[in-house]
Amino acid sequence: MEWNSKKILAPSILAGNHANLCEALKIAEDDGRKWVHLDIMDGHFVPNLSFGPQTVADLRKESGLFFDVHLMLDQPYLYLEPFIQAGSDLISIHLEPQYDHGQAIDVIKAAGIRAGLVINPATEMDGLLPFLASVDLILLMTVNPGFGGQSFMEPVLRKASRLSEIREAEGLNFLLEVDGGVGPGQVDACLDAGVDVFVAGTAYFREDEDGRRKFAEKVGEN
Ligand code: DX5
Ligand code: ZN
Repeated sequence: MEWNSKKILAPSILAGNHANLCEALKIAEDDGRKWVHLDIMDGHFVPNLSFGPQTVADLRKESGLFFDVHLMLDQPYLYLEPFIQAGSDLISIHLEPQYDHGQAIDVIKAAGIRAGLVINPATEMDGLLPFLASVDLILLMTVNPGFGGQSFMEPVLRKASRLSEIREAEGLNFLLEVDGGVGPGQVDACLDAGVDVFVAGTAYFREDEDGRRKFAEKVGEN
């Protein structure tokens, strides 16, 4: 399957039991999910802490899922190598902190894995434009990052629509991902806006097996 012809539901294990993250991975894997979303927080860029490269490396030994690693870090360039070595398949970095974003994207891609760029709900999309041809994925935060269980910010979808128009007009290849407050009730509006990858923590793990299957069907993953 082509990289940009996918619809993906990516469970965020931030919503899992952190004393047993393998359990959340296994639920996703047993459900037939292809991706899992791993949230890394530094207590600076976002007001919370989650887990680090050692955890990702240990989870890697337990799972063949595609590891979608979301770095919520002020200085992501300091940690790219450990997260690459840990077995990330995609590393997404935020646009907001000041650093050489282009160079960081190059480091990720030189490692032979996928690179993504992320913006917060309040961040204009113009700063993404120079990078659209070089990234594999644009992640639009639909909550202020740091915590699961917040409400989806629907106005962000205007940025998704605009980016998907640009993608079409310029023949670009990046996937569009949304993260934060995403549940089955948000899927239709997101699909209309051109979203390809749906990160869901709370809404995914609170469903039973049947609910999770219906969620994935709505996304169109299966
Ligand atoms: C928020 C994280 C999200 C989080 C989403 O800072 O980036 O990935 O896990 O959780 P829900 O789906 O509960 O909003
Ligand atoms: Zn995330």
